[in-house]
This record gives sequence, C-alpha cells and structure tokens, in this order.
Amino acid sequence: MTVHFIGAGPGAADLLTLRGRDIIAACPVCLYAGSLVPREILDHCPKGATIINTASMDLDAIIAECRKAQNAGQDVARLHSGDLSVWSAMGEQMRRLRAEDIPVSVTPGVPSFAAAAAALGTELTLPGLAQSVVLTRTPGRASSMPAGETLPNFAATGATLAIHLSIGNLDRVVADLTPAYGADCPVAVVYRASWPDERIIRATLGTLKDAMQEGISRTALILVGPALKGEGFSESCLYSADYDRRYRPQSADSPWSDWRDGDD
Ligand SMILES: C[S@@+](CC[C@H](N)C(=O)[O-])C[C@H]1O[C@@H](n2cnc3c(N)ncnc32)[C@H](O)[C@@H]1O
Repeated sequence: MTVHFIGAGPGAADLLTLRGRDIIAACPVCLYAGSLVPREILDHCPKGATIINTASMDLDAIIAECRKAQNAGQDVARLHSGDLSVWSAMGEQMRRLRAEDIPVSVTPGVPSFAAAAAALGTELTLPGLAQSVVLTRTPGRASSMPAGETLPNFAATGATLAIHLSIGNLDRVVADLTPAYGADCPVAVVYRASWPDERIIRATLGTLKDAMQEGISRTALILVGPALKGEGFSESCLYSADYDRRYRPQSADSPWSDWRDGDD
C-alpha cells in the first residue's frame, strides 16, 4: 500500500501527467484538495473508488483516512493543485505518513506559474532582462514569511517574480516593488490560468491598481519584472549560427568535434 502524491496541474483537466492519470486510475481511494483540483480529473478514478474532498478536513483526519486505507491494503491517490513542490502541504502529510511507516510516492504536476506564463505566451527568462524566476508569496493569515524573504529583497535582484497567494495584498505588492523596479515595470495578473474562466490583466506597477477587475480575489498569480515586456532582450547563444557547441561543432578543432550521438 502506498500514498501517491500527485500534482493535479493548474486547472485544465488535460494538464495532468499521463503518470498521474494512470496512478489515479489504479487507486481505490482518492483524496483531493477540493478548492483547486478540477472535478474532471476525478473521472479517472476507478469505478467504486472512495473519493474524498479534503477541503474541510484537518491534518489528523487526512492521515486517519490514509491509515484506514493502509489497514484495508488500498493504495491512495492524494491530489493537490499545480505541482507538489510549492505550497501543497505535502511536507507535513509526508512527515506524518513516514512516522507511521506508510510508503509514499510523488508525481509532479504542471505548476500554476508555468500555466500563467503559457497563458501570457511569455518566456520568464529572457537574455539580458531576467535569468531567474522567484516563486514567492506575501505573508497571509496562516503563514508568516522567514525574515529575509521580503519583496524588497527579491526586487533588488531584478528577477522575474511570480507572486502567489497575494492577490489580496496588491497594494503592499505594488508599494514594495515600485522602488526597485520603477512604476513603468510591466506586471501581469493571471486569474485561474488554464481554467475556462481564465482572465489576464496586463499593466505596469504604476497602473495596476486602476487596471484590476472585479471578482479577482483569489487563485491569481502576479507576475512582475522586465521580462514581462517581451521585448528589448538579446538572442541566446543556443541557436546562434556561429556558436561552437556540442550539437553543432564549428570546426575540426572544436572541443566538440569528436562528440558522438549518445555521449553526455
Ligand atoms: C496553495 S497555492 C498552490 C500552488 C500550486 N501548488 C502550484 O504549483 O502552483 C495557491 C496559489 O497558487 C496560485 N494558483 C494556483 N492555481 C492557479 C491558477 N490556475 N491560475 C493562477 N494562479 C494559480 C494562486 O496564487 C493561488 O493563490
């Protein structure tokens, strides 16, 4: 018996990995984080499966369901939105399960920041503009931030910021970022990326408050940084015609000239 943690993706039911789908189909028990996991994904559960929405359950109750499944020798598919590596609460569940010697596995999912970038048709790392993406959030009612992880600190790097769980803190986001990025820095808010009711708001730090629309109070990402301009960047060396590289050695004395397909 194993508890399989599965990233269910950002919203669109077909943004689930094939591995995730197959594990769900093989598990007689499915626990899903109800607020953000699309119901169509539950259609992959086998007929007669026990399907439980954990939105209103506490950690003890969730672990108790896993223990019950273990006693019955039944595998569990545990679904969380997006990917499991960020803001999934997988860590605390795993710690409890490991303490009880309940085996676990992890299957990644498409994270919401990637779905938001896809909705914008934007690469978040553009040569000369940004080569790092910071996945962060602002403090919430239930979560404080470690001392160094402040928006002004991240802003000082000039990286692209993907700010989660913060649409309710928009004034603070704008105030914290404007000194470093400037009021004309591009911003995009992507609401429910990949869901049928997805919405995109493009603005600058200076115009964002006026550009915001009614009804966007959760499930939105704020992307900020010069890369959001989508212009004014240089081309990478990767496809440059004269760049000497492993897959395209430029001369017989290139260090890559004796490289053969199959080498590292
Ligand atoms: C609890 S976190 C879950 C993050 C998730 N594990 C991931 O990989 O993206 C929820 C936050 O992620 C962001 N989010 C999740 N799904 C989203 C989507 N489809 N569109 C935009 N933002 C989303 C929002 O900032 C939301 O407040």
